[in-house]
Amino acid sequence: MAKLWETSKDGGLDPAMDAFLSSVGVDQRLLAVDIEGSIAHAAMLGRQGILPERTAAELGRALGALAVQAEEGSLAVDPLAEDVHSFVEAELTSRLGDSGRALHAGRSRNDQVALDLRLWMRRASAELREALLDALRAITELAAGHTRTLMPGYTHLQRAQPVSFAYHLMAWAAALRRDYGRLEDAAARADECPLGACALAGSGLPLDREGVAASLGFARPSPNCMDAVADRDACLELAAACAALLTHLSRYCEEICLWTSYEFGFVKLGSSCSTGSSVMPQKRNPDPAELIRGKAGRAYGDLVALLVMQKGLPLAYDRDLQEDKAAIFDAADTALACAKAFATMVSSIAPDPARMRAAAEEGCLWAADAAEYLVLNKGVPFRTAYAAGRALVLAWESARKGGAFGCSPAVAGLLAALGEAGLAALHPAWQGTETGELSRYLRLDSCVERRDQVGGPAPKAVVRQLEELRAFIAAKAEAVPAPAASIQ
Ligand code: ARG
Repeated sequence: MAKLWETSKDGGLDPAMDAFLSSVGVDQRLLAVDIEGSIAHAAMLGRQGILPERTAAELGRALGALAVQAEEGSLAVDPLAEDVHSFVEAELTSRLGDSGRALHAGRSRNDQVALDLRLWMRRASAELREALLDALRAITELAAGHTRTLMPGYTHLQRAQPVSFAYHLMAWAAALRRDYGRLEDAAARADECPLGACALAGSGLPLDREGVAASLGFARPSPNCMDAVADRDACLELAAACAALLTHLSRYCEEICLWTSYEFGFVKLGSSCSTGSSVMPQKRNPDPAELIRGKAGRAYGDLVALLVMQKGLPLAYDRDLQEDKAAIFDAADTALACAKAFATMVSSIAPDPARMRAAAEEGCLWAADAAEYLVLNKGVPFRTAYAAGRALVLAWESARKGGAFGCSPAVAGLLAALGEAGLAALHPAWQGTETGELSRYLRLDSCVERRDQVGGPAPKAVVRQLEELRAFIAAKAEAVPAPAASIQ
């Protein structure tokens, strides 16, 4: 296929070099948006009198037919084309002759590819946000019945303080909502139309940049033509949002791997979302969680590729930028596939509240509350109260080692055995403490219930977080119409 820029006097490209330079294998995914951009450009050329109305209309009709064929999948992209833009122009020219050759007035592939990318990313971002909303819905449904399902909260992967399963899931949701916001922010900043920037310096033709931007649904034309064709920070931002999202998904997947292990046993994955072993008949493996965790690295690689590709480039367009597409397609594809798989997997989670509570009862998760009891009820300075709490923990540990409470690890058993005098003997700050009252204060349910501040784990506070999340999902689902076509 002849190049757009080839003249009869030039010798042709070396065939291997031709194949090396071609991007059509990757950028044919831009076919639909390339046609969309060309329809807007042709119409603008007609409105501005740069092309006769008749020619513009003819181009519009032919491009519309191409769009239909592209949608049906019946438009075979020539693998020998230099890129998708050359292919569409050649196809038009073969159908319309000179009218096809008129389309590129006031346009360069530099602003064309910048436009196509933004149109594609607009769809990708909307589709990603849709998938994120599904993940948030799945989290909401899973959390709903578990505001009183106690489990250990961890720091350093050591049992720390009691929380509820719903509260832990709301922590996931809080971070995923920020990922949603990052995608929105990136889309808002990318909402500028590069068309009319042409090669780098605009065009001497009387183009209407505002009009064409509006007709393509952009908020505005890009403010500087050189920047419009030179920069790919919109790709960087989308890739960074994908990378942040995958970091979150990867962490939650790691938790799912831990929780489904025999050692934790907090949850089970349904058979629709776990796999067996080819040799060990007893096994159920959390493969989707592991694969999402593994795929996060790809998105980081794509982000780094985009950063490094641009860092040394003089303005304006350089061919290095052709590599942007493979990276941003992969980052968005990976994030989308992972968000969808995550949503499906979360829907299949079956928690085991008894295992979670048993884990929370073991390990003195009431210890910080013991110190706070003294602060609140006896006016003991926190550092002293901490030492008194520590003394109670040591007593609990040695009693437990001696098998003092049979099978019940609750601190109530220890306090009953100690009595007021025994407790006071552990540390002077405990002097005059009524052990029955302290027992009630240290019940795990009480520890969680009294934490009803904003963002806290108390059932009431978590119900508020759930309600707020449901309202967010409903508002976003209404605001963002599902994308017309999938990026995949
Ligand atoms: N295939 C090219 C790319 O993806 C299109 C732009 C080509 N522009 C140029 N001046 N060679 O970047």
